[in-house]
Amino acid sequence: MSQKTWTAVDDYLDDLIVRPDPAFAAALEASRAGGLPEIAVTAAQGKLLELQARAMGARRILEIGTLGGYSAIWLARALPAGGRLITLEYSAKHAEVARANLARAGLSEVVEVRVGPGLELMPALTGPFDFFFIDANKEGYPAYFRECLKLSRPGSVMVFDNVIRDGKVIDSSTSDPLVQGVRQLYEVIAAEPRVSATSIQTVGAKGYDGFCMVIVGR
Ligand code: SAH
Ligand code: DHB
Ligand code: MG
Repeated sequence: MSQKTWTAVDDYLDDLIVRPDPAFAAALEASRAGGLPEIAVTAAQGKLLELQARAMGARRILEIGTLGGYSAIWLARALPAGGRLITLEYSAKHAEVARANLARAGLSEVVEVRVGPGLELMPALTGPFDFFFIDANKEGYPAYFRECLKLSRPGSVMVFDNVIRDGKVIDSSTSDPLVQGVRQLYEVIAAEPRVSATSIQTVGAKGYDGFCMVIVGR
């Protein structure tokens, strides 16, 4: 199996059941035009986030790592009337593109983009949040986990992106700070009795990677 197959299968599933509406293509196009890196989640992954948030009835969602707002649009689609998403982004340029994409998707009243380093913005937030999507700088993952835990309630769910990295995650001698950050996340989760977690390896249009899902409460 190869990247070509994974991409073709994602195309097949997108057409048949994922069915992203035009807001998503518009957001990706504007992000590309703005020179943002093409590292948003895939449509199938974005819809999985939407369905996870919907399945647990999330009304307040926190995202760390907005980029152009692509995953934020999926997550916002999960919210009931009156629900809110706050998304944290380090880059003022990325945040500007994201705000335009969210406005075009009709979500300016639902999604708030805050600009700055995630860890510095989090102490000003008031919990609890029902659902967290963590997708910013990977070396920050252990600290994001701790801060999200503070902003959680029993039953809150956290999902971390990019936690497999082509399988590099099992390399204990890695010098890659991204992989080290993910490995430290797993160590912190393993030592935390207040949560239960799993990771799922994924393939698709964005290669071989995975999601870690954490629920607060045993
Ligand atoms: N969730 C997005 C992709 C995020 S890419 C999607 O799927 O559509 C990672 C983003 O995290 C980038 O935009 C990057 O600028 C941002 N980022 C990097 N370091 C950060 C930090 N310390 N705090 C907040 N965001 C950060
Ligand atoms: C990359 C992919 C991501 O989903 C992300 O959040 C950061 C970086 C990458 O492929 O480099
Ligand atoms: Mg990611």
